[in-house]
Amino acid sequence: MKFGTFDDNRKEYVINTPKTPYPWINYLGNEQFFGLISNTAGGYTFYRDARLRRLTRYRYNNIPLDTGGRYYYLYDNGDFWTPGWMPVKRDLDFYECRHGLGYTSITGERNGISVTQLAFVPMGYNAEVHRLVVKNTGSVEKSVKLFSFAEFCLWNAQDDMTNFQRNLSTGEVEVKDSVIYHKTEYRERRNHYAFYSVNRPLDGFDTDRESFLGMYNGLDAPQVVANGEASNSVASGWSPIGSHALNLTLAPGEEQSLIFVLGYIENEEEDKWEALNVINKKPALAMIEQFATDEQVDAALATLAAHWDGLLSKYQIQSGDDKLNRMVNIWNPYQCMVTFNMSRSASYFESGIGRGMGFRDSNQDLLGFVHQIPERARERILDIAATQFEDGSAYHQYQPLTKKGNNEVGTGFNDDPLWLILGTAAYIKETGDVSILDEQVSFDSNPDNTATLFQHLKVSFEHVTNNLGPHGLPLIGRADWNDCLNLNCFSKEPGESFQTTANIEGRVAESVFIAGLFVFVGPDYARICRMRGQDALATDAEAKIEDMRQTTLTHGFDGDWFLRAYDHYGEKIGSKENEEGQIFIEPQGICVMAGIGVEGGQAEKSMTSVQERLDTKYGIVLQQPPYSKYYLNLGEISTYPPGYKENAGIFCHNNPWIMIAETVLGHGDRAFEIYSKIAPAYLEDISDLHRTEPYVYSQMIAGKDAVRHGEAKNSWLTGTAAWNYVAITQAILGIQPDFDGLKVDPCIPAEWDSFEITRVFRGDTYVIQIKNPNHVSKGVASLTLDGAAVESNIIAPVLDGGVHQVVVELG
Ligand code: BGC
Ligand code: NOJ
Repeated sequence: MKFGTFDDNRKEYVINTPKTPYPWINYLGNEQFFGLISNTAGGYTFYRDARLRRLTRYRYNNIPLDTGGRYYYLYDNGDFWTPGWMPVKRDLDFYECRHGLGYTSITGERNGISVTQLAFVPMGYNAEVHRLVVKNTGSVEKSVKLFSFAEFCLWNAQDDMTNFQRNLSTGEVEVKDSVIYHKTEYRERRNHYAFYSVNRPLDGFDTDRESFLGMYNGLDAPQVVANGEASNSVASGWSPIGSHALNLTLAPGEEQSLIFVLGYIENEEEDKWEALNVINKKPALAMIEQFATDEQVDAALATLAAHWDGLLSKYQIQSGDDKLNRMVNIWNPYQCMVTFNMSRSASYFESGIGRGMGFRDSNQDLLGFVHQIPERARERILDIAATQFEDGSAYHQYQPLTKKGNNEVGTGFNDDPLWLILGTAAYIKETGDVSILDEQVSFDSNPDNTATLFQHLKVSFEHVTNNLGPHGLPLIGRADWNDCLNLNCFSKEPGESFQTTANIEGRVAESVFIAGLFVFVGPDYARICRMRGQDALATDAEAKIEDMRQTTLTHGFDGDWFLRAYDHYGEKIGSKENEEGQIFIEPQGICVMAGIGVEGGQAEKSMTSVQERLDTKYGIVLQQPPYSKYYLNLGEISTYPPGYKENAGIFCHNNPWIMIAETVLGHGDRAFEIYSKIAPAYLEDISDLHRTEPYVYSQMIAGKDAVRHGEAKNSWLTGTAAWNYVAITQAILGIQPDFDGLKVDPCIPAEWDSFEITRVFRGDTYVIQIKNPNHVSKGVASLTLDGAAVESNIIAPVLDGGVHQVVVELG
């Protein structure tokens, strides 16, 4: 069952009922100011950091679900409603939500009035702009009233929902002309405030929540709206809100537009005030002036669209498969960019207060956006590296606002350092910019203790070889990629966090996954050493990689698949010998991606075992059989009910590892089969089961052991976006940025005839036609560049800024 359709020309998903199986959201903002907005206008806004600079309130896991957002109430002669249906839930004669790239437009119509509510964050602007178009679709003149509504958060979202003894007394606002200013704590140490304006004179306003709602009412029935009369309340403590009241008279067929701006201002310390306790409004008024007219809004929308067209133009496919086209051309790169902006901080499953930026997460996310915005990838790499320690270990997370490592979570996730090599290598392969390696980067964010980024990579690599366990495999530390395989935790305390609680000093538990990752990214490190003339270092690294490959085959292979780990007691995990958790997806993916066991047949066996033991019709589950009880020596993985999350859920993040691994072995049909099982556009028809947005990936789909097999959770912010992007654009479609140029090496379903890709690479545009006359899956028989034959399948960068024709024949 579907709840909307893709509009590929407009790059929108069009939702045609507010009653989607879960709120289907979109993101506004690209730089500093962000908003989350659902198809019923729920959500919130923040400046840079969803925890520390939250502008508007949002109550997670609220009843009803997704209550709270940017609401515009239409009062029509005693009747009142909201165009997004929520929160009033009055029946609409027409409803439509269009989620586009960086904007959302919601239209509702009732009794001859239609309201379209468009929201976006203009480029270079620290505010959401909302354009309301109110139209009289009937045949008689109508007088209606519009009431806006936003509830202010007292900045620190965590404190805002816990410290009521203080916060219910601190709220302050100012109202001047058509602007409501929220200035809580501005009187003391804050130098920022929020404002909410509209581009016409007010007929009233409210800034005190209870005066607007009535003491015991909800957002579905505010007293002010029900009465059609604003109360002109001025908040003093309690809960400040912003509500503008506007009377509109509309002739038949007439439409009027109103522009609201909900923004953020920072003043210099000496410019905070215009009079005693009167805030300096000049910068707010200057911002508001920029969006006084429809022409200004239209121009900003055009700039936003051009921004996105520019980003997406870096990789475009034309194929006969609409679903593939819309994933590759629009939605997957879009999700990658959103994930770049948000990391794991703010979604409808991430509260914006829990997690900062992940060290491993951000490095992997980079894979999905480095070609779109290489300069910002560069900056991100340097930020991440600065939270590393001298021995190569790293803070697992850092805060976006301070860029400092997060002490609560700490360090000790032993895969972390390797992802920095992966991210940096991806950046250099894309851009050819090796100067990044010479950048001076702090350790532990200490500007007095710096080293080159290259040195950071060196300590990353060595952190693995300096921390090997009894079998010569890498020690796992707190955990590796699988944050829930906590082999040194031994937590007995109810509620204790597996992620933050102190671990025992484990020098036994080892990870086959980290071994595979080491062999996978190691060669890039060795290559980088050679690029810097450090041949001895490179040779040494290559020897260590080779050792690790052998060790993995000797101690990390269980006969038919790769083992997962050794626990604290040196016992196997992910082995036939185990009763539960006999086979895990992660080592199969990463080891085969690294080429381990390709020659000896272990890789083929591993993929066969994945297919036989882990595959389902909705994707590949993380492990089998699921853990049915809590294992003290395994930790969080065994806390989830079978079929969910890391305990045998379909983790969409590492399904692409299997896709890529299958392409290493030349299995194009199988790789694409797995791709299309979890790519959201292919799941649109089962949206009632899948429940999350059909235009973005979710982290997890319930596995076969779960009651609701096929149901997804944790949409948007997941490494799934980047890895699926890599799997489809690089491994399957085969366009691979490499140190020496653009490599073309597709691995596709044999029945495909041809497809065309336009790829911008180091300033040139390559139009690549791939023909498959002999219906093979893999193997480049010939390649021409602008008509001339090229010996290998690597196109050396032309670097003339031109458009170049590439013709590839498989065979
Ligand atoms: C989740 C993991 C996540 C970890 C750290 C766990 O509860 O299951 O997916 O990586 O928390 O946030
Ligand atoms: C989500 C976390 O963000 C990521 O770092 C981790 O690798 C996966 N969960 C798997 O546990």
